[in-house]
Amino acid sequence: MSVLAGRRIVLGVSGGIAAYKAIEVCRRLVDLGAHVSPVLTEASRHFVGETTFSALASEPVQTSLWDEASPIPHTKLGQGADLVVVCPATARLLGTYAAGIADDLLTATLLATRAPVLVCPAMHTEMWEHPAVQDNLALLARRGVHMVPPEEGRLAGGDIGKGRLADPAVIVEAIERLFVPAELQGWKVVVSSGGTREAIDPVRFIGNRSSGKQGHAIAAEADRRGAKVTLVTTVDRPITDSIVQVRVESAEQMRQAMMTAATDADLVVMAAAVADFRPVDPAAGKIKKDQGVPQVILEPTPDILAALGALKPQGQILVGFAAETSDLRENALGKLTRKGADLIVANDVSAPQVGFEHDTNQVVILVRRPGADEVEVIDVPLDDKRRIAASVLDVAASLRSGTPATGSDRT
Ligand code: C5P
Repeated sequence: MSVLAGRRIVLGVSGGIAAYKAIEVCRRLVDLGAHVSPVLTEASRHFVGETTFSALASEPVQTSLWDEASPIPHTKLGQGADLVVVCPATARLLGTYAAGIADDLLTATLLATRAPVLVCPAMHTEMWEHPAVQDNLALLARRGVHMVPPEEGRLAGGDIGKGRLADPAVIVEAIERLFVPAELQGWKVVVSSGGTREAIDPVRFIGNRSSGKQGHAIAAEADRRGAKVTLVTTVDRPITDSIVQVRVESAEQMRQAMMTAATDADLVVMAAAVADFRPVDPAAGKIKKDQGVPQVILEPTPDILAALGALKPQGQILVGFAAETSDLRENALGKLTRKGADLIVANDVSAPQVGFEHDTNQVVILVRRPGADEVEVIDVPLDDKRRIAASVLDVAASLRSGTPATGSDRT
């Protein structure tokens, strides 16, 4: 379930050309289960239609302090909100809010709320850089107002510069962050992702179908929960700048990077699909077709998870993955014991929509709690990889705090 499910969000829209992007923000918030109440300023109605917002949001648009049956719409909106978002926030709106002036429904709502407030400024570069705007933003930041800064890019009229409203996906991500519990604050988390490549020669390798999506999702979720995250990965996928990335290719490179990063980690997640075998002696130059079919002799790769398990410092939580095509629980149980992990996340990669390359996954989490004789088994139904990541981290965090995760049984 999304962290936004059931959250009451007032979406304030002020009068800039970027107001059209607030429609997309509104749609995404509603898709994630939020209850969205749109409040449009007078000026914003020159840019976007009320009907569009009313059709997409959870209730009709409100625009005025005076046109509702209720004489105090701003206090109703402000008191009922879990969050007030202003998207886009114009220079006028920011100035009025910073000065504490309540001259329309949106600014009155901003003053009538104790909920967190997130502003998403958008304006021309000259306006954005004006000391008055920057001072107002600094004042709002001191009061605890959150901000998604504008981006560089093409502005109204064809100019290029800073001031373009952040992408709707970035804004929605920032909104979600405000509701994610910062339960991993102060944790160092190390995650591996992607499949390793073992060289046959400089152009060919033995690889696997891992996309890195699940490992990346775990790293992103740990970052959202406040952890300091290092991601050791073989794949190039977009990820937030606050995550330190270490790029590797082979199992041996991954082993070295993981052993170094894990020494002082609180949580280590080996989500990568590490090759089990590698060519003993990769050719220095490209093997030519006319040299005949090469006989590639293989040797086992180092088992990184087992090595991490053997050297695990006191208190560190170690998570392994098990991609199986049969006997899921039995195989995962064997890995939990053999590799010295606290938790194994097992998936049946032969099932539809599960595992490699898909955006969704379905897993069984096996947990060995300190001092417990039995292994706990938690079934996590098919869901997108981000929510699977959240479930894995819920269980890992519960190991530290000692509280059992919900929905578990014992084996
Ligand atoms: O033994 P198996 O490869 O099925 O175990 C899977 C788990 O072990 C995964 O967490 C994977 O990242 C890890 N692994 C490893 N080093 C290997 C092979 C797998 O760390 N050489």
